[in-house]
Amino acid sequence: MSRVYNFSAGPAALPESVLARAQAEMLDWHGAGMSVMEMSHRGKEFMGIAEQAETDLRELMHIPDNYKVLFLQGGASSQFAMVPMNLMGSAAKADYINTGSWSKKAIAEAKRYGKVSVLADTSADFRAPEQSSLQPSADAAYLHYTPNETIQGVEFPYIPEAGDTPLVVDVSSTILSRPMDVSKFGIIYAGAQKNIGPAGLTLVIVRDDLIGHAADGTPAMFDYKTHADTGSMYNTPPTYGWYLAGLVFQWLKEQGGLEGIAEINERKAKALYAAIDGSDFYANPVEPACRSWMNVPFTLANADLDAAFLEGAAGAGLKTLKGHRSVGGMRASIYNAMPEAGVQALIEFMGEFERTRG
Ligand SMILES: Cc1ncc(COP(=O)(O)O)c(C=O)c1O
Repeated sequence: MSRVYNFSAGPAALPESVLARAQAEMLDWHGAGMSVMEMSHRGKEFMGIAEQAETDLRELMHIPDNYKVLFLQGGASSQFAMVPMNLMGSAAKADYINTGSWSKKAIAEAKRYGKVSVLADTSADFRAPEQSSLQPSADAAYLHYTPNETIQGVEFPYIPEAGDTPLVVDVSSTILSRPMDVSKFGIIYAGAQKNIGPAGLTLVIVRDDLIGHAADGTPAMFDYKTHADTGSMYNTPPTYGWYLAGLVFQWLKEQGGLEGIAEINERKAKALYAAIDGSDFYANPVEPACRSWMNVPFTLANADLDAAFLEGAAGAGLKTLKGHRSVGGMRASIYNAMPEAGVQALIEFMGEFERTRG
């Protein structure tokens, strides 16, 4: 077996020890004589797995008791619609900040349900807006933003101030990468396939008072109340993804929790940005204060060498470095599961490529 360093933006690398444990438990989970995949979601064994995962997540993120944790399906993209369906209310108005590709999608979806005020649009600028430039609307039902734009590699260096207006965040590519103060947010959501587990699971953390206000006609599956009232078991939940997420949460606890993983993530990001900044051959387009710890886009001085870079990198066991088509160049996604050795191997390869081809 030979594993590579996988820099994919998502589905992304998972901790090897988590995969090994899932493999060891695959055919016979803890003497149950069956795989987790084969278990009833209402049976004692799976209920135990589900509860443990939630308990561990609550501990990792210090989630207050007045928040529900929902284990759903449909990806973060479903939340683009579920948020307005549940929160817009009779005012039918919400504030959004547009910092890039995923903000844009969230805004487009929200517009189907009501009036959207875009407080700032820095989607072409590779930065978050100045905090002082944001003027939240008095009558908005919520303020939505994307703390980490996976494609542009832009991360908010602050939490916007919106008074009593609930903040709603799409943290698909930054959740669990460092501590966050859950109490500052109304809804926190993320697709699982970057820092949580396999694709197919969607995590939603929602404050109790925001549940139960879905617009008339909202299908049961799109009403937070349905899932909050049933412990995310209204229908068959993504059981195997939930189990693997639970293993990832346990692995995170072994890394020292979010405080521990944040130190490692900061070191990884700093080392990679230093390598980019220290060379005339590589460049990162993001304003330094807004550089993502998780997704690092970079370009080569000569784009004609992109293909050779990718081929050489793949040969060195560094995979999935091609940048998103809208930005070009390369993108190294260095989520929690990317070991420091993987980032070091990339930096060494970049240095070698510049010396021989730059
Ligand atoms: C920030 C962000 N939001 C939303 C999505 C879409 O997520 P999903 O594919 O789970 O719908 C992604 C996927 O990469 C993302 O990075």
